[in-house]
This record gives sequence, structure tokens and C-alpha cells, in this order.
Amino acid sequence: MENPFRFGGVVRGPYFADRLAEMDELTTQMDSLGRVFLVSPRRYGKTCLLFNLMERLLQKGMAVAFVDLNAHPDLPSLAAGVAQKLAGSLETDMDKLVKLFSSMRRLRPRLAVGPDGGISAGLEAVSNREEAIHALIEGLAQAEALAAKKKKKLVVIMDEFFDIQKYDGEKVEKAMRSEIQKQEHLSYIFSGSEASVMLAMVNDRRRAFYKMGRVMSLGPIPREAYLEFIEGWLKKGGIHAKRQELVRILELGGDIPYNVQRLCHNLWEAAMAGQGKVTPSLVESLPEQIARQDSPHYELIWRSVTPSQRSLLMALAQSPGARPFSRDFQARHGIGPSSSIKASLDSLMKKGIVIQEPGGLYRFTDIFFPRWIQSMSQAKAGMA
Ligand SMILES: Nc1ncnc2c1ncn2[C@@H]1O[C@H](COP(=O)(O)OP(=O)(O)O)[C@@H](O)[C@H]1O
Ligand SMILES: [Mg+2]
Repeated sequence: MENPFRFGGVVRGPYFADRLAEMDELTTQMDSLGRVFLVSPRRYGKTCLLFNLMERLLQKGMAVAFVDLNAHPDLPSLAAGVAQKLAGSLETDMDKLVKLFSSMRRLRPRLAVGPDGGISAGLEAVSNREEAIHALIEGLAQAEALAAKKKKKLVVIMDEFFDIQKYDGEKVEKAMRSEIQKQEHLSYIFSGSEASVMLAMVNDRRRAFYKMGRVMSLGPIPREAYLEFIEGWLKKGGIHAKRQELVRILELGGDIPYNVQRLCHNLWEAAMAGQGKVTPSLVESLPEQIARQDSPHYELIWRSVTPSQRSLLMALAQSPGARPFSRDFQARHGIGPSSSIKASLDSLMKKGIVIQEPGGLYRFTDIFFPRWIQSMSQAKAGMA
């Protein structure tokens, strides 16, 4: 039996845990042409949720277009992507699609031959940025007209939406807002990991997207539901684990789905190798095992930070939850002064290695990284 705890990509169907309440809520919102800003830190499962939602919406007869802003380095590329995806989700007839694309004033149609010999219609970006805003709006307007003609609801999903900043965001937002407000067949989900950026977009009255939709914060998967999911799969694999051991896995993973999936993935492998038995010491050994597996990645990060940032990371790994500006912390780890710690923290946060929690504490974004740092320093100490 294949390991059912998948990670890294989009997990679907039976491998996708819970999120029932969110799926229901989003389905209702999209059905009533709502606009939702879906916000959570990275790796909580936004993209997975959106892909599973897409399947449900398609089953309900809606059209769905998924646009990932990460895939579009500049505005012309985004404009072409949006126009192509939106029209393509409503019109499946190739000839009609080509005709539609040819009628667009600011984008050029392009035919591509796929690896299977099939021909697909696409759009080519315009070069100029000012034109690109107009092209983007033209794409949205065309989709509205097409949806009206087809009497269909089109759900537009924009993932990694906070990235809109990189395209001179405020101008683009303004143009999008006035177009979106005219629409009667399109609903939107704007999804993003940078909570501060996303929330500022909707909550700041000077911004174009002010109050343009409701905010849905994606939290952890409720423990009871996640435990049932995990237990269900373990049972199928003939693996016996006590509840308290599985609760410990959720704790170790900080209830973040990506972490929990990785821990469970390794748990499955280990239990399969050891006659299906889960022991507390096995559970405790999992994070370090994962840290070792990701070693090449951590080595790269380690080489990319300065010596004083390294010292600070080592101190934070040793004393999680400590206050880096306290005299005690600095004396214990032989680092300081506060001004240089501040500079290091700022830089580490910018790189996404460390984040500051709402309570003010600093912690590692990746919970397995401090494990790697600790075992590396222990190995060094052992060699000395
Ligand atoms: N509902 C879920 N069930 C099982 N695994 C999940 C779920 N949500 C997220 N994951 C795990 O977390 C990983 C990251 O999820 P992803 O959707 O990419 O997060 P985000 O888009 O919020 O950064 C996935 O590859 C998967 O392993
Ligand atoms: Mg994502």
C-alpha cells in the first residue's frame, strides 16, 4: 500500500483531510457571486483547499479559472494568462476560442502544439505595461460577456494574490475594482500568504479593494477531524497508534498541515518497517529524521546567512521562546548588542527564515530547521 500521507504538491480526494466547513462556506459564497480573500500563513493548505473546491464547483456546473500569480513574472504575462484562463474555462470549442482571442484588441492569439500533437489556443503578452493593464481589464470584461452569453457562473481564483504588489499593484487594483464591480456572472477568491499585505488591501479605506469582499482566515485543521483522518489511514495500513501519540504529532507539527503530513509520512514508513508498531520514542524521533532528510536545503540556507545571523539562529534554536533582546539571553549565548541582533532579526525575517508571532515572540518559519541546527552543533561539539 502506498504511503497515504502526501506532501509537497496538491493533495486530493481521500488524501485531503477535512476542510469541510471551509469548502461549504466557499461554495456558498461563490454560488452567490461573492468575493473572498482567503488568508493564512504558508503551508496551511490554501492551494490544496482551492483545488479541491474547484472540483466541487465544476461538479455543480460552474466554470472555474485558476490563476497563480507566481507563474507570471510581469503584468503583460498576467494579462495574457488571465484572458486565456478565463475564456478557456467557459469556451471549450477550439475554433470559437481562437475567434474570441483574435477579437481581443490588446493581446495576440497564438496556437501551440502540445506534446501529444494536440493544438491549443493561447494568448501572447503585449510588451508595454500601460497597455497590459488595459489588456487585463479587457480579459475580465470578455469573460463577463462570455459567461452571460453561456448563462454560467465563473469562479475566478487568484492564488498568491499578494504578489500583485510586484506589478505596480495599486494602479492594477484600481482598474480591476471598477471592472469587477460591474460584473454579474463572476465571483472571485483572492488567496495569499502575506496576511499583513492581504489584510491591508481589504481593510485600508484608501485602497481600491477596500471592503470588496469578506476575509476568510484559514486556521489549522481542527484536531478532532485531523486525528480521525490520520487514524483512518493508519488502520487501513494495519498500524496501531494510541491517540496520545497522534496528538503528540499534531503538537510537534504545530498543527500546520504540511508539517503534520510530513511527520505522518515518516511515521507510516517507520511503522511499516517495524511491524506496525508506534512507540513514543519513534514519534519523538520523527522531526530530527525529517531535518536530516532536508539537510541539503538547510545547508544552502546556512551558507546564505552571515556569521552573526548564524549565531543568533543557533541561540534561537537552543532557547525557543526566549526574548532575544533580554540581557539574559544575550549573556547566555554570548551575542549582542541588541542593535546588531535587531539587524540580524530583520534580515532573517525578510528572508522568511524567522517570523514574529502576534505575541512578539520570534520563531522559525520551518519547525524542522532548528532541529537541524541543533544536531549540527551537537555533531560539531562531539568532534571537538
Ligand atoms: N487538508 C489537507 N489534507 C492533507 N494535507 C494537507 C491539507 N492541506 C495542506 N496539506 C499539506 O500541506 C502542504 C502544503 O499545502 P498548500 O496547499 O500548498 O499550502 P499553502 O497554499 O497554504 O501554502 C500540502 O502539500 C499537503 O501536504
Ligand atoms: Mg499555496
